Amino acid sequence: MNVIVVPDYEQLSLHAAEAVAAEIRARARTVLGLPTGNTPKGMYRELVRMHQAGELDFSGVVTFNLDEYWGLSPDHPMSFAYYMRTHLVDHVNIPPGQAHWPQSQGDQDAACRAYEEQIRAAGGLDLVVLGIGNNGHIGFNEPGTPFDSRTHVVRLAEETRLANFRGYGFPDLDAVPKFGISMGIATIMSARRVLLLASGREKATAVARTVAGPVTEQVPASILQRHPDATIIVDEEAAFALASREA
Ligand code: PGA
Repeated sequence: MNVIVVPDYEQLSLHAAEAVAAEIRARARTVLGLPTGNTPKGMYRELVRMHQAGELDFSGVVTFNLDEYWGLSPDHPMSFAYYMRTHLVDHVNIPPGQAHWPQSQGDQDAACRAYEEQIRAAGGLDLVVLGIGNNGHIGFNEPGTPFDSRTHVVRLAEETRLANFRGYGFPDLDAVPKFGISMGIATIMSARRVLLLASGREKATAVARTVAGPVTEQVPASILQRHPDATIIVDEEAAFALASREA
């Protein structure tokens, strides 16, 4: 796993956006797996800026959100579909039908199968960008998720619901859904490249366990040690618990 330590959140966002832009420019059609949450907001801001400055064309970009709350419609303001439209899709030239998010209502098995089929039909994922939970989750793959999992419906860990309540503006904890639908660990690992972003001191333990701990289903992100092309970009605060840091 390549580890890139940058001074702060601003640099992390610029590095991440450059990495995504390089993938988009490298081929006529690029299939991206994309995260939501607070961490990637700066990256999306920079990608939108690049597009509006005429530096980046999204016409060949196909996106798949990593995850979604189960039970929230795509129009719900707290849904990840809404987030993705607000932070990226509405501001760039991704053609209609090329931005995907998992179905979040109705038949769960059918929703999971359909998402895997859509990813397969798109030719597989070129790059997946990930955030990381304080508990080491990637997507909504909580500790204990089998490494061979594909898209599945998950019961959210209480610490995830609490973190999302605090971080995402839900009116109260009861409003945070109890279930999510997420690309599985094996789905993420099937991507040709993986880029994980972590910012802030509260992510330092999860980062250290991801980079330097044992590969274990108790720390879902630790599986990235086995990916042939995984990079983790961390700011100084998130790198706090790493033994050696790179500039
Ligand atoms: P955050 O979420 O970027 O809002 O910290 C990351 C995650 O839970 O995956």
